[in-house]
Amino acid sequence: AGHDLLVVGSANADLVIGVERRPAPGETVLGSDLAVHPGGKGGNQAVAAARLGARTALLARVGDDAHGRLLLDAQRAAGTDTTGVLVGGAPTGVALITVDPSGDNSIVVSPGANARLTPADVRAAAPLVAGARVVSTMLEIPLETVAELAAVLPAGGRLVLNPSPPAPLPAEVLAACDPLVVNEHEARFILGEQAGELPEEWARGLLALGPRSVVVTLGAEGALVADGAGAESTRVPSLKVEAVDTTGAGDAFTAALAWRLGLGESLVEAARYAVRVGAAAVTRPGAQASYPTAEEVPAP
Ligand code: RIB
Ligand code: NA
Repeated sequence: AGHDLLVVGSANADLVIGVERRPAPGETVLGSDLAVHPGGKGGNQAVAAARLGARTALLARVGDDAHGRLLLDAQRAAGTDTTGVLVGGAPTGVALITVDPSGDNSIVVSPGANARLTPADVRAAAPLVAGARVVSTMLEIPLETVAELAAVLPAGGRLVLNPSPPAPLPAEVLAACDPLVVNEHEARFILGEQAGELPEEWARGLLALGPRSVVVTLGAEGALVADGAGAESTRVPSLKVEAVDTTGAGDAFTAALAWRLGLGESLVEAARYAVRVGAAAVTRPGAQASYPTAEEVPAP
């Protein structure tokens, strides 16, 4: 049997320190005790979907080390099919994360094994790709690997891409995205000088680059969705919640969106559900540790 969602992406050990404020260059600040959480944008998406009840598989690469075992254990506990998780070749990816009192984070990622997830690994996983209703990916793995995924996607397959961290995207990759999911930072990176100031302008500008649909995430403001059919975009407001730690909330949003699209929901319907999942995720510390089950998703 196939999967509702295949996530092709990164898995990192998140080393998290709470800080009053971030250090300036050359400065040292003291922070909280260290917390080590399973993370990575790919690992996060897989856990988010699996916890919601989606039949989820992960194609990723971790190191043959303690961090890699931590990440695999977290996936298995959530119910992810991990037969596509490759082990070895480099140390497990690590994210150094500081979280400030407002719940905002800054992240430095050492890709490690994620950088060794190759186009050949995607080809070897052809049955997983062909059997998934939706494939979701991001840029913490090599761009060639994402491009291969776009190239081998079967007719009727659907690709969701969060271009994070942002990098210039080939036209073939952009054309395969349905949707391209960006935050403000990623939208501005892709659009450059011509970006404009309004999310509606970003959506219009991004659609002109070729994706079949675009979702702009707006943090506490929710999201804006636009598909190629009409020129109009639609705002999807978020819920009012007290932010504790926003780390990985975007990944939970994207995973929930991708899953619901695969079930046949419209972009607006899927986004309405996904903002509720993202809202739940910001109210608790950590990324994967904060993701809700279907029952824990707050009412609209
Ligand atoms: O999106 C949040 C994730 O970004 C963290 O879990 C960290 O691993 C980085 O990949
Ligand atoms: Na969180």
